Amino acid sequence: MAYTIGIDIGTSGTKSLLIDRDGNILAESAATYSVMMPKPMWTEQDPELWWNATVKTVRAVVKQGRVKPAEVKAIGLSGQMHGSVFLDKSGKVLRPALLWNDQRTAAECEEITTRAGGREALIRMVANPALTGFTAPKILWLRNNEPKRFDRLAHVLLPKDEIRRRLTGELATDVSDASGMLLLDVCQRQWSRELLDKLELDPSLFAQVYESEDVTGSLLPDVASKLGLTPECKVVGGAGDCAAGAVGNGIVRKGILTASLGTSGVMFMHCDHPQYDPLGRLHTFCHAVRGKWHMMGVTLSAAGSLQWFVEQVCKELAARRGTDPYAALNAEASEIPPGSDGLLFLPYLAGERTPHADSKARGAFVGLTTAHHRGHMARSVMEGVAMSLRDSLEIIRGLDVPVRELRVSGGGAKSLLWRQIIADVLDQPACTINAEQGPAYGVALLAGVGAGHFKNIEEACKATIEVVQKTAPKKAATRVYDRLFPIYQSLYPALRSAFQNL
Ligand code: XUL
Repeated sequence: MAYTIGIDIGTSGTKSLLIDRDGNILAESAATYSVMMPKPMWTEQDPELWWNATVKTVRAVVKQGRVKPAEVKAIGLSGQMHGSVFLDKSGKVLRPALLWNDQRTAAECEEITTRAGGREALIRMVANPALTGFTAPKILWLRNNEPKRFDRLAHVLLPKDEIRRRLTGELATDVSDASGMLLLDVCQRQWSRELLDKLELDPSLFAQVYESEDVTGSLLPDVASKLGLTPECKVVGGAGDCAAGAVGNGIVRKGILTASLGTSGVMFMHCDHPQYDPLGRLHTFCHAVRGKWHMMGVTLSAAGSLQWFVEQVCKELAARRGTDPYAALNAEASEIPPGSDGLLFLPYLAGERTPHADSKARGAFVGLTTAHHRGHMARSVMEGVAMSLRDSLEIIRGLDVPVRELRVSGGGAKSLLWRQIIADVLDQPACTINAEQGPAYGVALLAGVGAGHFKNIEEACKATIEVVQKTAPKKAATRVYDRLFPIYQSLYPALRSAFQNL
């Protein structure tokens, strides 16, 4: 028998799963950890947390799956994108990694744009404008703010690639994750020497770039025995969690989109050729499909907004024994009519990327009256996130891209109510598929390609992924949301200067 393992190094935890060569999931394991917030809007994590969670969950799936060590042929890695792991030349981690939703680098984004010769020139080199979450501004932040550490800097790796280094000893990355560093020539699928020169960054800081299904190395002998595997087990390029999640949802050809509701929310679209949003509101990155690209819009706080509401606002509910706070809020919210009786929520709790690209944007409930209660607020959080995804979808529709099917995924999509709200707000049936594991499943399939179980990732997805459920939009609700959406869209411009001043 032959198996592969997919590992997803997420923001709130790491998930591993074991699949057979037909794509059936035999075992799954997850380990959680938390995010450090040393200052408001700063987020950091110690890579040691990811490593411990990787070892724990891989050992668990090998044990649960009752597979022989030599039967696990390959591992695929996925992870939160954009995070910066700073290493010295001996491989020591210099400081906790800055994460994708960290907002400290506004000054460095300006510096990058200026050094590049303006926004247009930057987009020509790396396909995207400078955004605070991306990796390049984090490297400049280290140079500008912690120069002693920067002097010792020998390598910068993305989160999943740091795990690869510990698994295989290799410094490697894949095209999809590397795209989010703002240093990759996305059209050519290689580092942009031009931008590295302008930023005075030494190319030797960066890992070798591979396609997602290519083999980047195999397990170090001591690591293999720690995990219950063999040194023959290969590790493929893998993908950033957005592209990996898209593969795990079968988004490997034109016309099917995914809306994922993880901590962040992503509206993801496959492209056969590099395509741009002229205003730079959507990101243009390499896809995990060989020689293909994707565009996506990112809502920084999607399921993260509901998590905030549960953990910070509904603390008592969250602490109540024997109660699942999410199920309780879902029940309360489903009693409330579409539109939450005039209450709107802006999900900009961690600033925003699409469509506003503003690290100073803030969350807001607008329209509160004495008649509103917790159920209204919970529903309006879900609706606000759906409206934010609609912002991305409207840009995609404006690029004349055909939308034949929409698949919803991620933790938030487990809620039927939230799926219905998505279908109603986007006026598009929301489909779910047979595999719920998104990124970890996507990279387990990519590992299957690397191990020779499938000819390519398109074939792997065709053989394993199918739509199992469709939630159709309800016309009456769609009419309500069509009326509210322009009001929602008018709120950010109206509040922008207040957000800046706050
Ligand atoms: C994508 C992004 C997030 C993280 C979350 O650009 O920043 O989706 O990858 O894990």
